[in-house]
Amino acid sequence: MLRTHNCGELRIEHVRQRVTLAGWVDSKRDHGRGVFIDLRDRYGITQVVFEVQSGAELLEAASRLRSEDVIQVEGTVLERPAGQHNPKLATGQIELRAERLEVLNRSETPPFLPTKGNLPGEDVRLKYRYLDLRRPAMQQTLMLRSRIVKLIRDYFDELGFVDVETPMLGRSTPEGARDYLVPSRIYPGQFYALPQSPQLYKQILMIAGFDRYVQIARCFRDEDLRADRQPEFTQLDLEMSFVDAEDVIGVIDGLMARLAREILGMELSLPLPRLTYDEAMARFGHDAPDLRCSIEIVDVTDWARNCSFRVFREAVEQGGFVRGIKAPGGAAYYSRKLLDELTEFVKHDFGAKGLAWFRVESDGTLWAPTAKNFEPGQLQELARRFDAAPGDLLLLSADQWMITCKTLYGLRKRVAADLSLIPPGAMHFSWVVEFPMFEWDEQEQRWTAMHHPFTAPRPQDLPYLETDPARCRAQAYDLVINGFEAGGGTIRIHDAQLQQRVFGLLGMSPEAARQRFGFLLDALRYGAPPHGGIALGVDRLVMLFAGLDNIRDCIAFPKTQKATDLMTEAPSPVDSRQLEELAIRVVPPPGGAGR
Ligand code: AMO
Ligand code: AMP
Repeated sequence: MLRTHNCGELRIEHVRQRVTLAGWVDSKRDHGRGVFIDLRDRYGITQVVFEVQSGAELLEAASRLRSEDVIQVEGTVLERPAGQHNPKLATGQIELRAERLEVLNRSETPPFLPTKGNLPGEDVRLKYRYLDLRRPAMQQTLMLRSRIVKLIRDYFDELGFVDVETPMLGRSTPEGARDYLVPSRIYPGQFYALPQSPQLYKQILMIAGFDRYVQIARCFRDEDLRADRQPEFTQLDLEMSFVDAEDVIGVIDGLMARLAREILGMELSLPLPRLTYDEAMARFGHDAPDLRCSIEIVDVTDWARNCSFRVFREAVEQGGFVRGIKAPGGAAYYSRKLLDELTEFVKHDFGAKGLAWFRVESDGTLWAPTAKNFEPGQLQELARRFDAAPGDLLLLSADQWMITCKTLYGLRKRVAADLSLIPPGAMHFSWVVEFPMFEWDEQEQRWTAMHHPFTAPRPQDLPYLETDPARCRAQAYDLVINGFEAGGGTIRIHDAQLQQRVFGLLGMSPEAARQRFGFLLDALRYGAPPHGGIALGVDRLVMLFAGLDNIRDCIAFPKTQKATDLMTEAPSPVDSRQLEELAIRVVPPPGGAGR
């Protein structure tokens, strides 16, 4: 062993022991007493002293050390002199008096120091990920991730789930996101697809009788990336037989309670609160609302229908809605300039036609440039609907339903951030249930599955499947944490005929369905139990439990927003010989292949 202890371990009870430490030189100070090194590893920092009495040679070697050199030091643990204890350091009561030093590896001057100076841009951090991962914050997050995964595995093991691995090389099923394709050498012109999720395999495992399946599964989706999305990410994936939505939700409730207790020391009261999709859209404008903030949408369409403001009245006459939110105490914060910015923001980002705002004056009346368009009494009624108090600001959107949803969801988020309405450290867990089965795709002029095509409708909605698809609600449930979709799942169709009907509704001919999903339709004919499941985004869970806002900080080697790995420089061109073997010829895109 190159060390007897780690750098976070030594305490007062180790005084007078002879020990050996190894780690990175975090910093060096030359003092009258000698040379002081802070020695760092992932466990912590220990102060090492090279004293004048230890000899000129050792002192000289120590003074040549530089940040990020890797060294081994043998010496004796001493209590620090009176007045020099460091309460901020776990090892702050002691220091190591060095008697022998070995430089295990010298570091060149690194592009940035893991614990000193300003953090460089994310590109530099990703290019030199090994330096970035030396940062205690990154190490804490990855260690937290490891703990979360261990807690998850233990929990499902206790509940009798079987961990089964499913293939990485599968069949392309063009539903959902774009696939990552892998060319087959043996069958030129044919491709495997990397799994977007183990969805069909886990359903097949239920048909095979496994009853309770779990996997920490890597998934791949070639989609547009955002702060909470990665092209390859990790799911906690599970499936259960002979269950309904309540059972699956109950299992995840239990898991959340355990994670909250173990990781955050927080007791969740179960069952976790639930909203239907329709409620979530009506009250918060989104299917994953951040319920740490209590602002709710107020619908004043009925009031607007008869008001004298043309903009509002016409919106309602055209089948639209007038809805708004109240920013408590927002009148002082939002200047005219900021309100103009908010108006531009909702026009640009959500296609809103405008934004109407009202300040609540000290006498409780509403003031706005548009106020003159209202008859007396109308604004009083509006103030009453919003329960408005002096100093509040009302923000109203008059538009088609979905645009008011997006606008008010966006404004709610902005207001919560601007007015610091989210208490630090707050966590909110909830379920959104009863999603629509289908969404109408304007571009393709067809119905698409809101979750995926294997989702079962609520039994009471079966009669509307063909007659009124928009009315069909799914046996679907999303776990929402702090405004992020942390997981989503459904009860599945376990009947081949119903599955065919849903494929048909999605515009898939029986031949196309057979070609793509024949194996599933076959399997459903040989004794498929009722089943359902869910998948949680592990990277997102870690992000939320760590209190971070960037998924890349929760993954050791993430991709950039442009799906590149800056350290290994993937993706990269390959040898022409490799391409030849795969019978692939690259057609250069117009304008070159640059990044
Ligand atoms: P879904 O597509 O909703 O469901 O994914 C489940 C959860 O995975 C996480 N997630 C992602 N995390 C990071 N980057 C991404 N690109 C990304 N995409 C999804 C989210 C999401 O809630 N097979 C179904 C589950 C089921 O029905 O059982 C599925 O994959 O947290
Ligand atoms: P206009 O009559 O279009 O000049 O609009 C008068 C005011 O109403 C402006 O402050 C607009 O931002 C606002 N407004 C216009 N359209 C809408 C809308 N659809 N919803 C909310 N406010 C709107």
